[in-house]
Amino acid sequence: MPSTLPEGEAVPTDGSLPTRSLEKLGEAPFGAYVHVPFCVTRCGYCDFNTYTSSELGPGASHESYADTVLAEIDLAARVLERAGRSLPEIETVFVGGGTPTLLASDDLGRILEALDKTFGLADGYEATTEANPDSVTPESLATLRARGFTRVSYGMQSAVPHVLATLDRTHDPARLPDVVRWAREAGFEQVSVDLIYGTPGESLADWERSLETALALDPDHVSAYALIVEDGTALARRVARGEIAAPDDDLMADMYAAADAQLGGAGLSWYELSNWARDDAARCRHNELYWTGADWWGFGPGAHSHVAGTRWWNVKHPAAYARRLAEGVSPGHGREVLDAETRRVEQVLLESRLRDGMPLERLDAAGRAAVGGLVAEGLVEPAPLDERGSLVLTLSGRLLADAVVRRLLP
Ligand SMILES: C[S@@+](CC[C@H](N)C(=O)[O-])C[C@H]1O[C@@H](n2cnc3c(N)ncnc32)[C@H](O)[C@@H]1O
Ligand code: SF4
Repeated sequence: MPSTLPEGEAVPTDGSLPTRSLEKLGEAPFGAYVHVPFCVTRCGYCDFNTYTSSELGPGASHESYADTVLAEIDLAARVLERAGRSLPEIETVFVGGGTPTLLASDDLGRILEALDKTFGLADGYEATTEANPDSVTPESLATLRARGFTRVSYGMQSAVPHVLATLDRTHDPARLPDVVRWAREAGFEQVSVDLIYGTPGESLADWERSLETALALDPDHVSAYALIVEDGTALARRVARGEIAAPDDDLMADMYAAADAQLGGAGLSWYELSNWARDDAARCRHNELYWTGADWWGFGPGAHSHVAGTRWWNVKHPAAYARRLAEGVSPGHGREVLDAETRRVEQVLLESRLRDGMPLERLDAAGRAAVGGLVAEGLVEPAPLDERGSLVLTLSGRLLADAVVRRLLP
């Protein structure tokens, strides 16, 4: 969740949604995202809405934050109950950050419990928490599992000390085998690791070493992200000053291909451009819900939500967020009601990154006319695509995904 928010139209103070969106609630799967806006230090590349102070005012400290989220859960129930139907069950929960594991495990457990009591967690639900390898213990993981979390996602990023140093990562990479084992011993169903490639100074050999080290952990799932030099970050300033080089596109492409080969060779298949899973059950169902345009409520400062074509986002600062909820007012800052064409374009952008593919029916005539050329150039899997008539990128297509999408949306 980037830290810069769009403006949009104002959200009503009671948080109410347009009737035409509320009426469609329940037609798509429903999920919950919970943002935890705290970190011990800020990594130089990170643009997320997170703060290093543990005390940001009433309702916005590590200790009081869970209660503030519980107030937004109550508000969500009031808003969504206006549909006059029962609240949708929650299929997936994702607690992200920031660093969720800076909160007490019992507080994360209370948030999950409140979601369950208010909405109900569906049978076979998925509940992920992101975790920093430095902020978990066998006990905290056992508590999280006992309180209902099913999946843990560790921010590993790299196994190579000079790469971690350039990223300003402070965690000890030697802890990874321990924290993964503790998660297994605690009974987590899925363990995932996040990696970043393309850090200035990182060689292909460094990246291959990180992949090997990650695979030695035997994860169920790996996310591998190309480093983005976000405006306004310490990393961007260092690149602008010429202290370090910007990531190199050709090297990044080699790194992506190496990731696909190494992860694939170890039995993890891609199912989204930056995500690989052991099998279908190990996919992150919560992210799939975003990529397929389903519905979710995003709790926390700066969090985005989407219900049937209405998207809104909360005020950014944790103190402002807590103040609004204490006053009984929606923390929503702005919203937009998406028209059919905007939704179509977003679906093409997101679904063309999926191994399950993008249904060709999403394309207009000009987009459809481009498909033949993309197949001939080896960027899209050849016809008949798949049995549902969906467009799937080849490895070359994944390397050039943005250019492919531009041709599908002329
Ligand atoms: C915002 S973090 C939250 C998890 C946790 N705080 C951590 O860093 O381990 C989620 C993931 O986003 C990725 N990420 C954050 N900033 C990025 C950037 N500028 N470029 C690429 N990936 C980034 C990292 O891989 C990170 O694990
Ligand atoms: S720990 Fe994660 S959320 Fe926090 S600053 Fe680093 S990348 Fe960003």
